[in-house]
Amino acid sequence: MDARSIVTQSPEETIALGHELARELTPPVLVLLLGELGAGKTTLAKGLVAGLSAAPEEEVTSPTFTMIHEYAGRHNVARVYHVDLYRVESARELETLGLEDLLAERAVVIVEWGEKLGPAFRPSAPDRLIEIHLKTVSENERSIEIRAAK
Ligand SMILES: Nc1ncnc2c1ncn2[C@@H]1O[C@H](COP(=O)(O)OP(=O)(O)OP(=O)(O)O)[C@@H](O)[C@H]1O
Ligand SMILES: [Mg+2]
Repeated sequence: MDARSIVTQSPEETIALGHELARELTPPVLVLLLGELGAGKTTLAKGLVAGLSAAPEEEVTSPTFTMIHEYAGRHNVARVYHVDLYRVESARELETLGLEDLLAERAVVIVEWGEKLGPAFRPSAPDRLIEIHLKTVSENERSIEIRAAK
């Protein structure tokens, strides 16, 4: 997966992009979603989780309060974690979450507010990290840039 950038015109298109990207993920992998409020992080996460056949998209909601939602995966993916770091305020809280442990299995870990995850918390192997930057262009348009290190 190399760098690429697209503009989606609706939430449905963003979900469809999530389905497409899900097919290209090889676990263990950390997928960081970066972008402002309403940029479409949860919407893309719905597509990713549903694309991995871990849950129907309507069941994928923002883990803002619980911080982590866990789903059983299929095929080569053992688990899918959907994490929201919006409320995280310190490195200590990040440590408590234990994201590295989640990645140790054949897991796909999807993280909203990836900005909050400093380098110390990111996998050192570049093929285990994908960054997706989302930006609001207009009411229904979102620019989505995918950066994979490999
Ligand atoms: N092209 C699009 N892609 C994604 N969402 C869109 C698009 N156009 C409009 N929207 C709307 O933008 C909003 C995106 O909300 P979403 O919860 O996915 O954002 P978020 O980045 O997770 O926000 P938060 O920071 O609050 O977690 C939804 O209301 C969605 O319907
Ligand atoms: Mg969200």
